[in-house]
Amino acid sequence: MIESNVLASSTADTTALSGKTTVFPLWLRISHWLNALGVILMVMSGWRIYDASPFLAFKFPASITLGGWLGGALQWHFAAMWIVVVNGLFYLLANVISRRLPRQFFPVSFKAFFGDLSAAFKGRLSHADLRHYNTVQRAAYLFVIVDLFIIVLSGLVLWKNVQFPLLRELLGGYETARRIHFFAMAGIVLFFVVHVVMALLVPRTIVAMIRGR
Ligand code: HEM
Repeated sequence: MIESNVLASSTADTTALSGKTTVFPLWLRISHWLNALGVILMVMSGWRIYDASPFLAFKFPASITLGGWLGGALQWHFAAMWIVVVNGLFYLLANVISRRLPRQFFPVSFKAFFGDLSAAFKGRLSHADLRHYNTVQRAAYLFVIVDLFIIVLSGLVLWKNVQFPLLRELLGGYETARRIHFFAMAGIVLFFVVHVVMALLVPRTIVAMIRGR
């Protein structure tokens, strides 16, 4: 499996895509950039909301937060929430209906993951065929999809904790849901930093995510 991933990449090297091959369909690109915008707005306004009542020994510098004050930040947070939730559901549905989900993100195994990770460190992973995700990419994208799901569910508990008693209890109560929400945010920020660095290392991928080809 490890070999097949690395080999698949090297085969792709010899059949590099022509500039006209569609790598990312339009719906996916629109959904991706809307989602990126929504997540950035949610994270920055979320930091301002956290600052109003921090549960760790630090606050986020006001200059990197959004909303100016608690009320303003809550308004940004709720507005961006609709982008992330509606667009996220559309992305998931479109991936399931088009059968892109199993094709693009599976299979994933520990063996293939560590094989591709080590190949990446040795500079042996090719990016010639942008339609094909290696196992490290698959795992990262699956992680962020699940993480966003957790963030939305825990956010629901924080927003309407009386209306969703079952969900609240499943998440360990209001205070635990707050911590889950915070650490899921930290997971997204970590993903974001690694994701952007990786994309900048192979700028062709950014062009493809904008132009489709
Ligand atoms: C928190 C915000 C973001 C999230 C949650 C996110 C998530 C994702 C996901 C899930 C995919 C896979 C899409 C698919 O094939 O279905 C993806 C691909 C991609 N993203 Fe993002 N993204 C974010 C921000 C960004 C930013 C700011 C950039 C620009 C630097 C970027 C550049 C890319 C590129 C170039 C790809 C295709 C990369 C590849 O071939 O691996 N993303 N992103």
